[in-house]
Amino acid sequence: MSANPQLKPFSFSEKAMLQMKDILSRYDSKRSALLPVLHLAQDEFGYVSDEVIEYVARIMDLSPAQVLEVVTFYTMYNKKPVGKNHFQFCVTLSCWMFGSHQLMKSACSRLGIREGETTADGQFTVSKMECLGSCGSAPVVQINETYYENLNPEKLNRLITSCKEGEPLIP
Ligand code: FES
Repeated sequence: MSANPQLKPFSFSEKAMLQMKDILSRYDSKRSALLPVLHLAQDEFGYVSDEVIEYVARIMDLSPAQVLEVVTFYTMYNKKPVGKNHFQFCVTLSCWMFGSHQLMKSACSRLGIREGETTADGQFTVSKMECLGSCGSAPVVQINETYYENLNPEKLNRLITSCKEGEPLIP
């Protein structure tokens, strides 16, 4: 991937710029701060597009290829826009043994989408993830930044309904 001069210039807001300075102050080298800076970029721009990768590479003194490598290695970075409620089902061993695939299928079927897709109204995206690090309470779904553990079909239905109705979700 090489720099594309045709791409629209991106820039962090003043607030995000201050957050980035704070992040950088906690690391010995700029490069070590790449993961949290990418998180910040994802929060700021919604997802990590090619343009965002180029912007982050520029401010971190890295090449776009070095940033892309990290973005594609970790599943927590969204390479395309996601819905307001991003259901991320863990499908690694413990969760898989407790039926995470079936739960994911059932969420897709209720929402009328396939894994990796977003509903037409932009409200829901369903994705599969590798281990979320909460294997003892499998199966787990992460909705945006929050984990919902020991998931079962009833709990999943309640979560979807609450999202649809804009109610707070109960972990
Ligand atoms: S296997 Fe699902 S959280 Fe680890």
